[in-house]
Amino acid sequence: MTATLGLVKITRGRGRIAGYSGPNVPVEVLWCGTNRPRRKHGQRKNGWSFPPAVRELLLQETQGRTVVHLFGGRADFGILMDTDPATRPHIIGDAFLPPFARDSFDAVILDPPYYRMNRQEIIALLRASAWIARRHVYWLHTVWIAANSALPLEHAWLIRTGDQCAVRTLQRFAVREPKLEPLKPGEFQRGSALKYNRWAMAGEPLPFADSIRIGSGPAGQQTTAPACGPEQIREGVFLGDWSC
Ligand SMILES: C[S@@+](CC[C@H](N)C(=O)[O-])C[C@H]1O[C@@H](n2cnc3c(N)ncnc32)[C@H](O)[C@@H]1O
Repeated sequence: MTATLGLVKITRGRGRIAGYSGPNVPVEVLWCGTNRPRRKHGQRKNGWSFPPAVRELLLQETQGRTVVHLFGGRADFGILMDTDPATRPHIIGDAFLPPFARDSFDAVILDPPYYRMNRQEIIALLRASAWIARRHVYWLHTVWIAANSALPLEHAWLIRTGDQCAVRTLQRFAVREPKLEPLKPGEFQRGSALKYNRWAMAGEPLPFADSIRIGSGPAGQQTTAPACGPEQIREGVFLGDWSC
């Protein structure tokens, strides 16, 4: 064997390398050192709420502004909307059909369950959110998304949430005029509805579910899927320790 066996040498022509470039907006790394529940962070007992570092970043981002969370969960600032009454939201409602007027809040925060959302669902969510927001829409997920010129990406964070955990992204989109009107029921197709079995076991179907086709079953049929465990891995999503 010679010392040059397998040696890497870069030889290329002139010009740009396809796909090899830096981001065109600021992208930072947010390092969550710990997500263990701690008294000083409101005794965070669950794995699906904002990790403390993400919560802190969002607080700093939105301080002095009005906020609505369309997937409220147990967030502890701003107005919370959620389909699950057990989370005790201010408003029980569906993030895909939010009952708010144009420009109701400075910022809309989207922290949906981490299932594989189809493109139409993402577009529907972003259109609805941009309609409500005066300034920004925040997206927290395991999937990086792109919007359009009415909602350009302004800033992003890649988030290390812990060892053996899926990486998250927090993206901040700026709201621009002219806005596109939100999509109406029937104008987009939704994937399967997902509920966390830990905190929504006895959840009642919402009255307006009848008017929307959810999942592959008959109209109005609501399916449930646990957020963690083998089922979730089968769906191709492993969230890691803290969110299970
Ligand atoms: C990841 S959790 C949000 C956690 C929240 N950011 C916190 O810090 O506690 C997602 C939430 O979305 C809710 N949810 C799921 N589908 C929804 C929908 N279509 N509309 C509104 N809320 C929904 C779930 O009940 C759950 O509370």
